[in-house]
Amino acid sequence: MNILVAYYSETGNTRKTAEAIFTGIQHTRKKLLPIDQVEDPGNYDLIFCGFPVHNHSVPAKMTHFLQAIPQGKKIALFATHGSLRGGEKAISAFYAALSLTGGRTILGTFGCRGQVKFQLLEEWIEKPQERSWALEAQSAHGHPDLVDLEDARAFADLMLHAAEHMHGAGKKP
Ligand SMILES: Cc1cc2nc3c(=O)[nH]c(=O)nc-3n(C[C@H](O)[C@H](O)[C@H](O)COP(=O)(O)O)c2cc1C
Repeated sequence: MNILVAYYSETGNTRKTAEAIFTGIQHTRKKLLPIDQVEDPGNYDLIFCGFPVHNHSVPAKMTHFLQAIPQGKKIALFATHGSLRGGEKAISAFYAALSLTGGRTILGTFGCRGQVKFQLLEEWIEKPQERSWALEAQSAHGHPDLVDLEDARAFADLMLHAAEHMHGAGKKP
């Protein structure tokens, strides 16, 4: 089984999470790449796709990447976001990602918080349409932290086992 950890990251939070996921994959045939360096997603059986939540959704570059993954592939989604973990705002981005991946098997999702530059937060808090998530994001400073990265590694392990189980299911003993 070939495994790819593909990520899009602007300020490094999603990259750090991707690196933790990569180290959590106990498998030899694995690669870690930013999405603009992935030549052919068709070469992989399991693809971890990571992105920062932008405007409660998936950044355009990741949208294109997800749509280019061939049907029938196994996907594990992960994201970093300033708003609270497990909150409605973060979940809306996963719904958006799921709607872009029809026909592929989604094994699971993982989200953790990622700090936002102080200057940007100050600006967004003043904008009525951004205020709600920006206020939540104030407490994301220092994330992803060691606990987030440990959780990301555990997520990787879980997804690998799920994929191996499915991979083996179609084969003769
Ligand atoms: C343009 C932009 C829009 C964002 N929109 C949201 C949002 O809607 N909800 C949220 O929780 N965080 C939002 N964030 C915060 C990022 O999701 C968060 O800081 C993330 O960890 C950044 O990841 P990166 O360092 O990999 O780029 C936004 C950040 C940027 C730059």
